[in-house]
Amino acid sequence: MSLEPTGGPALAQERRLVTEIPGPRSRALLARREAAVAPGVATMLPVFVARAGGGVLVDADGNSLIDFGSGIAVVSVGNAADRVVAGVRDQVGQFTHTCFMITPYEGYVAVCEELARLTPGDHEKRSALFNSGAEAVENIVKIARARTGRQAVVVFDHAYHGRTNLTLALTAKYMPYKHSFGPFAPEIYRMPMAYPYRWPTGPDRCGPEAAAEVITLIDKQVGPENVACLLIEPIQGEGGFVVPGEGFLPALAEYCGANGIVFAADEVQTGFARTGAWFACEHEGVVPDLIATAKGIAGGLPLGAVTGRAEIMDSVHVGGLGGTYGGNPVACAAALGAIRTIEELDLVAAARRIEAVMLPRLHELKRRHPAIGDVRGRGAMMAVEIVEPGSTAPDPATTQAVARTCHQAGVVVLTCGTFGNVLRFLPPLVIPEDLLTEGLDLIDDAFAQVAGRPGHDRVVTAS
Ligand SMILES: Cc1ncc(COP(=O)(O)O)c(C=O)c1O
Repeated sequence: MSLEPTGGPALAQERRLVTEIPGPRSRALLARREAAVAPGVATMLPVFVARAGGGVLVDADGNSLIDFGSGIAVVSVGNAADRVVAGVRDQVGQFTHTCFMITPYEGYVAVCEELARLTPGDHEKRSALFNSGAEAVENIVKIARARTGRQAVVVFDHAYHGRTNLTLALTAKYMPYKHSFGPFAPEIYRMPMAYPYRWPTGPDRCGPEAAAEVITLIDKQVGPENVACLLIEPIQGEGGFVVPGEGFLPALAEYCGANGIVFAADEVQTGFARTGAWFACEHEGVVPDLIATAKGIAGGLPLGAVTGRAEIMDSVHVGGLGGTYGGNPVACAAALGAIRTIEELDLVAAARRIEAVMLPRLHELKRRHPAIGDVRGRGAMMAVEIVEPGSTAPDPATTQAVARTCHQAGVVVLTCGTFGNVLRFLPPLVIPEDLLTEGLDLIDDAFAQVAGRPGHDRVVTAS
């Protein structure tokens, strides 16, 4: 069997459609999937991937699709990136697992050192490694409670923090995430989010007004002395790529500091260069006490982390954190490869360049298509919110139809948002600019096809 890579950056960086989408091989695999895989695990676009790299996904039928999803913001360094593959290969040949809690190894420590170096703030830090974003967020709650001796956790409208039982309690959206899975953990308090597009007095006043409202609600309904942590995504992911109104995050961080509340950032989706900074908190100069990371940290291998102030992390009793696989040596090797790739290729700057290409183009699209109510995002985390023209009423049907039209044309885009009406774009940070532009052209065509011009009939397919 050949060990030569057949995917990764060496793949031809082109869109190529050789069958309908999905093609016959994917359809055959889909039939097998339906018989063997639980339907609760949904699939957005049933093309079965055979190889991937750079900015493309190549399916079992030989179609090459432009990737504007990065496996939900994971393969920021590109799929099967050279340094990730090399690190993983080297590590699996040495040992695959010992359990860090039994007999440790260097890779785990090295990843924690990198997290201390890269995350915001120059204070002393410690990290603990886990297997996923949800597991990292769960541990934030444990650590904050251990530190403060308090129980309450403050979260926000539109938040997404994962699918385990505790993180479902923290997550806002009921369908499909929470429906029929309760009861959920108590002592979770949900607050209004500074959502500029939907803020009643307008985007400019959103940040300060929303912060004042949240602070009043905590003061009057929870009691700051009961709050262990305030947990927030510095840019919301699943909830609709909501970039909080300016001033919201700093005001909340200051309030937390003044009241002994742990300020915790969920940077699972926004971290590791995605937004044009190593971490999205940096855009507003906010330094979290604790930070959860996963996704982009390890180039596609499962790894999550909590990084935080040493005095907070050290307050958990010895043996209180961990898990059999947390910080698995292969995942750590992948993370070290991904981090070096981000630095060597300066993918922070690459994310900013992606923003510089996408943002004006999406604004221009908005001027032509009244179905686009809002354009937002930072770096390579961009979105358009789709509404009934002339209003702010969410239009999930058009959103689905545009997404499907994009898929048929060979560009993988994702949807999100509490109202299911946000089209989100998360290209790998290594995507070549011509593919980025071609993907944007296809999105433009999809809007023309589905939403038409003002006054024309819209084609709406069922979601
Ligand atoms: C902000 C945020 N937090 C937590 C999670 C959960 O991460 P995971 O799916 O790795 O458990 C996600 C996943 O999409 C996320 O976007």
